[in-house]
Amino acid sequence: MDKNYKRTLVTCALPYANGPVHIGHLAGVYVPADIYVRYLRMRGEDVLYVCGSDEHGVPITIKAQKQGCTPQDIVDEYNKVIRDSFSGLGINFDIYSRTSSETHAATASEFFRKLYDEGKFIEKESEQYYDEEAGTFLADRYITGTCPKCGAEGAYGDQCEKCGSTLSPDELIDPKSSLSGSALVKKKTKHWYLPLDQYEKWLSEWILDGHKEWRSNVYGQCKSWIDGGLQPRAVSRDLDWGVPVPVEGAEGKVLYVWFDAPIGYISNTKELLPQSWEKWWKSQDTKLVHFIGKDNIVFHCIVFPSMLKAYGGYILPENVPANEFLNLEGDKISTSRNWAVWAHEYLKDFPGKEDVLRYVLTANAPETKDNDFSWKDFQARNNSELVAIFGNFVNRAIVLTHKYFGGKVPAVGELLDIDRETLAEIPVLRANMERYIEGYHFREALREAMNIARAGNKYISDTEPWKVAKTDMDRCATILNVSLQICASLAIAFEPFLPFSSEKLRKMLGVSIYAGTDHRLGEQETVNTYRDGEAAALHTCADECTASCGGVCLKWDMLGNAGLLPEGHQIGAAELLFAKIEDDAIQAQLDRLGVIRAEKEAVAAAEAAKVVAPQKDEVSFDDFGKMDIRTATVLEAERVPKTDKLLKLTIDTGIDTRTIVSGIAEYYAPEDMVGKQICILANLAPRKIRGIESKGMILMARQGDGEMRFITPQETLSNGAEIG
Ligand code: MF3
Ligand code: ZN
Repeated sequence: MDKNYKRTLVTCALPYANGPVHIGHLAGVYVPADIYVRYLRMRGEDVLYVCGSDEHGVPITIKAQKQGCTPQDIVDEYNKVIRDSFSGLGINFDIYSRTSSETHAATASEFFRKLYDEGKFIEKESEQYYDEEAGTFLADRYITGTCPKCGAEGAYGDQCEKCGSTLSPDELIDPKSSLSGSALVKKKTKHWYLPLDQYEKWLSEWILDGHKEWRSNVYGQCKSWIDGGLQPRAVSRDLDWGVPVPVEGAEGKVLYVWFDAPIGYISNTKELLPQSWEKWWKSQDTKLVHFIGKDNIVFHCIVFPSMLKAYGGYILPENVPANEFLNLEGDKISTSRNWAVWAHEYLKDFPGKEDVLRYVLTANAPETKDNDFSWKDFQARNNSELVAIFGNFVNRAIVLTHKYFGGKVPAVGELLDIDRETLAEIPVLRANMERYIEGYHFREALREAMNIARAGNKYISDTEPWKVAKTDMDRCATILNVSLQICASLAIAFEPFLPFSSEKLRKMLGVSIYAGTDHRLGEQETVNTYRDGEAAALHTCADECTASCGGVCLKWDMLGNAGLLPEGHQIGAAELLFAKIEDDAIQAQLDRLGVIRAEKEAVAAAEAAKVVAPQKDEVSFDDFGKMDIRTATVLEAERVPKTDKLLKLTIDTGIDTRTIVSGIAEYYAPEDMVGKQICILANLAPRKIRGIESKGMILMARQGDGEMRFITPQETLSNGAEIG
C-alpha cells in the first residue's frame, strides 16, 4: 500500500431514504466501491466499509406530507428497501446505519457545538419567506410560483421542473406557500454559516497542488469552485426534521442536511466500533476514500473537508473517485418520471442474475464521461460475453474432466508452446488488473479479467481436447489440467466483480477462497474469512483453511499460478455459470419503459397543442369584406393518387358544384368527409394542384401541434350561406 497506510476506510455516499436505489446509483457509487473493497480484502488489507441512509432534508418531509405520514415512516420504509437491495447484490457493508440514529444526533450535534464554541461559524440574520398561516419559515422547496424563465406554473423556489432552471424563491412570480396556499411574508431569521472563503487557500494547496492525481472530472470541478471564489455556506435551516441546532435560542432550527449527512460516516463508524473508531478517522496511517456520484463532489471535496479541518484532528480523503452519470436507453434517469431500472425490481425480475447487473454496470461504468445502459446491450453482454466466453470455457473444462478423468484433476505432462504461452498471459493480465483497480479504473480491470476467460476459451478451442482424447490421453490430460488451472485463476479474478459466480465456480472446482477480514462483528477481533466452495457459506478458519475446504484455498496472490489445483483433486459437478437471457425478458423491460416514454410524449404533445400562434397584422374592414366565405357540402371525396396529404373534394357551394383539393388527408379519410357541411373561401383564385384545378379553400382550425379540424356550422344551413 502507498504512503505507509495501514488500513483503508471506504465510504459510499449515504443514499437519501426517500426512494429506492437505481442502476445510476449502483454504477456510480456502490458497485465500484464494492469491487475495490473486495479486492483490497483479498489482498490482506484491513478495510472498513461504511454506509447508511441519509434521512434528513426537505424532500423527505414533503414526501411524508404528500403521503399523510411522518418523515420517520418514510425513512423507515426506504432504509429497509435500500439495505435489502444492497445485500441482494452482494454489497455488504460492515455497517449500514442511518442518520436518524441517536449516535448520529449526538455526534453531529457535538461536531456543530465545538465549531460554534470555537467561533468557527459566522452568525447572520437574513430575510426568509415565512408562512403566517402555518406559522413557519419555508424551505425553498415549499415555495411555488410561476417560473420566470418559461412561464410554467408550480415551479419550486429552488428549481423549475419544467425547464430545469435553477431558481431562487425571489425570482418566482407570485410565490405562494405550498403548505397553506397563502401568500408569503418575509421575516428575519438567524443562521450559522461556515466561512468557506477562509478555507480557500488551504483547499487550493491541498487539492490543486496536492492531489493532481485525482480524476480529471473531480479535480476540474474542485478547481472551478475554488477559482470562482468560495462563499460562506449556511449550515442550519428553519425546519422541524433534522438534528436540532444545539444552541440556546435556536428552537425550530436544525442542521442543514449536507452538514449532518457526511458526519454520518463518522457516526456510523462510531456505532460499529465505539472503542476503536478514532483509529479509522484520526490516524494518519488510515487511507480514506469516498465513493460518490458527480453531484456530490463539492460536498465531499470542499465542504466536508473544510468542516473536518475546522474541527481538527481528522484525516482527509486520499481520493474521491466520483463517477459521472449513467443514462438509461439514451435518456437521463429520472426518479420522478420512473425512468430508471430500480435495484429491488431488478432483483425480482432477474433472480439469480445479480452478477449480470454488476457486470454490465461495471463494463459501462461512467468513469470518465456519462455512459448509457440499454437492455439490448445488457442482453448482448450476458449472452455473448458471460455465457459465450466465460461460461462456455468453464463448462467445457469441467464437463470434459468428468468425461475423461472421472472428475479428478488429470496429471500434467510435457508443456507445449501453446500451453506455456497461454499460461504466461495470465500474470500479465493480473498485473494490469491490480494497476487498474488501485487507480480506480474498474471498467478496464474487468476487461482484463474477461481477457483471462477469453484466453482460456481460445486455448480450449485451439487445442480441441475432445479430439485429442481419441488418440493421445496424456496430451488430453495436460490440456485439461491447464484449462482447470485457468478456471481456478478465474475464480480468483472475478471474486471482486462477480462474487456469486465466483462462488459457483469454486463449488464446481471444490475450492475455497481467502476473502480477507471484515468488521461486521464490531469490536470483536477480526478473523480471516474464507469463502467455502462447498457450502457457499462464509466461515472462519484459524489460519490455513485446510480442514473445511478440502485443502485448496485460493488467494489473490496465486492468480496466474499454473499449479493451483493439485493432480487428483476431486472437482464437483458441472453447473451452468451463466444462462442465456431470452428476448421476451428484454422485451418486457422495454415495454415497461415504452409505456413511460409514451406518457412523456403525450404530456409534451398536450403542451404543444396549447401553444397559440401570435396574432397577425391588422386588416381593414374592407380587406375582410373581400373574402367570400360560405357554407358548402362535400359530395364526393377521394385521395389524390401518390400523395399522403391531399384529398380531392367535390363540393356543392350553393353557387355551383366544383372541385377543391385540400391537404387534410392526414386528419380525415375520404369516407369521413362525404356529406359533411363545411366552410370554404369561395373566391380564392383557382390553382392547379397535382394537375387538378382547385377552386377555393376549405377552412380549417389548426392548433399548436399541427392538429387540424374543418369548421362546420353548429346546425346545418343551406349551402352558399354567407359568413361574415
Ligand atoms: N444523500 C446524498 C445523495 O444521495 C448523499 C449524501 S453523502 C453524505 O446525493 F456524505 F452526505 F452522506
Ligand atoms: Zn421554467
